[in-house]
Amino acid sequence: MTDLLDLAPLTPLHQTVRRPLYTETNTSQALYLPIAPPTLGTAGAVIGRELYSGKAFIYCPFSAFGDGLPGGNMIVMGDTGRGKSALTKTYTARQIRLGRKVVVLDTKEQKEREEGEWAALGRSLTGHAPVKFAPGGGRGSSCINPMDPAIAGKRQVELVRTIVELGLGRKLDEFAGSALRIAIRRAHHRAGEEGRPPVLADVAAALRAPEETDAQAKQRTGDELLADGLEASYVLDRLCGSDQDSTGDLIGMLDGPTSLSIDLDADMVVFDLTKVPSGGVAMTILVAVISVFLEEVWLRPLCECGTEPTQHERVTVDASSGAWELGANASTGCRRYTQRKRILVCEEAWHILGTPQLASLLEKFLKFARGYGLSCIFIVHHLSDIDDSAETQAALKMADTIIIYSMKKSEAEDTVARLGLPAWTAEHIMRLRRGVALWKVGEVIYPGVQHLLTETEQHLCFSSGSMTDLSSAAPDTE
Ligand SMILES: Nc1ncnc2c1ncn2[C@@H]1O[C@H](COP(=O)(O)OP(=O)(O)OP(=O)(O)O)[C@@H](O)[C@H]1O
Ligand SMILES: [Mg+2]
Repeated sequence: MTDLLDLAPLTPLHQTVRRPLYTETNTSQALYLPIAPPTLGTAGAVIGRELYSGKAFIYCPFSAFGDGLPGGNMIVMGDTGRGKSALTKTYTARQIRLGRKVVVLDTKEQKEREEGEWAALGRSLTGHAPVKFAPGGGRGSSCINPMDPAIAGKRQVELVRTIVELGLGRKLDEFAGSALRIAIRRAHHRAGEEGRPPVLADVAAALRAPEETDAQAKQRTGDELLADGLEASYVLDRLCGSDQDSTGDLIGMLDGPTSLSIDLDADMVVFDLTKVPSGGVAMTILVAVISVFLEEVWLRPLCECGTEPTQHERVTVDASSGAWELGANASTGCRRYTQRKRILVCEEAWHILGTPQLASLLEKFLKFARGYGLSCIFIVHHLSDIDDSAETQAALKMADTIIIYSMKKSEAEDTVARLGLPAWTAEHIMRLRRGVALWKVGEVIYPGVQHLLTETEQHLCFSSGSMTDLSSAAPDTE
């Protein structure tokens, strides 16, 4: 009786062991066809071809959404030079042709061009130069203000607190957190009286000069409130510098008003972070600020016709419950509100996924990605680059499409184990050629997807200038 109830042998976790089959390519294609995974439909960006079936491979998280794909977030991983960036660049460019908007956090410099890897693509698509961040600022560099009034109150408090905690290297206690909240409010008030937007230095100043009324409201004396927030003010001084000290890590990037050169309506916005020291506190803080800024400003609900939801008429779809949906906008001739879809690309995403505070900030972003019509793409080398914290694991779980390029043995085995992929995939991953990847879309595995580039795309994706004698004019025939 117990044996009958033991369903373990029926669970899909059991793998069968078969002898390998050696065949000609045509034979294996014919054999594979009947058991090949279903295609992902015909709507979306053409990626290339599925090698085993020979079928075209078309992918779009927005079209495939719901049909076995619970969300639109992706992770692309693999050894260096295997084609991760090339895939992501052409994929996003092809998605832009379908009306999507793309933001890229570019952290990889092409030394010979002295700019980020995505700069050429961004320029060719939009005519705009990347939004550049450089320590100390300088000509052509941009600034984002974490205290920008465009960032909603609660989110701003959370963000400034994250900045202080990242600078401090540990969490703030309740007293310091409360002093910071009060100081942020005061900074807004005082800057408002001067008719200008507040900046981080105003928060540091407010922490050092608390108001008696604020202290009383919290049953503290003025001196106690000062002591509560003094350390946070020192951290902000260190990060943003002061009149006497111009060595702050964030100077020129986060210490002034938001620079107006950022056109967040462009088809592709490239944030060039290549001059920011990688792995340092400035990079971590900058990414935190950019992600919140994007959430507050870039991700606002917008129809594909370019108008706000409020400009579309409400159509009652069920009179008894009063349920309604957004319909036409007569002024643009748009027949129905369709949320504009967006894609966020994080190159070298271990900066983000490897920092628990950032991963948890991002987790919220990812969780709500569906509601925003957003797909996030993280590019990493190996999962072992990413730490094992609960926050990071939670962020990783949000990726419903995983693309794996070739890796060395230990990395491949580790990846397969961490992602719970079938055991045969480890050896398969080790043997993948450049430009060919294993795709896991929802629960379906496509073992060999070859990414195909046009000649123009070859030029825009060429990233081996420093290592090769070939120029991008010579198409890669590997
Ligand atoms: N599918 C492909 N067909 C032909 N050439 C390709 C393909 N994919 C990539 N390449 C070429 O291979 C080189 C390396 O590609 P890419 O920059 O995408 O690698 P990567 O995996 O992002 O490397 P890294 O981890 O160092 O950033 C580029 O010059 C690119 O043009
Ligand atoms: Mg790359």
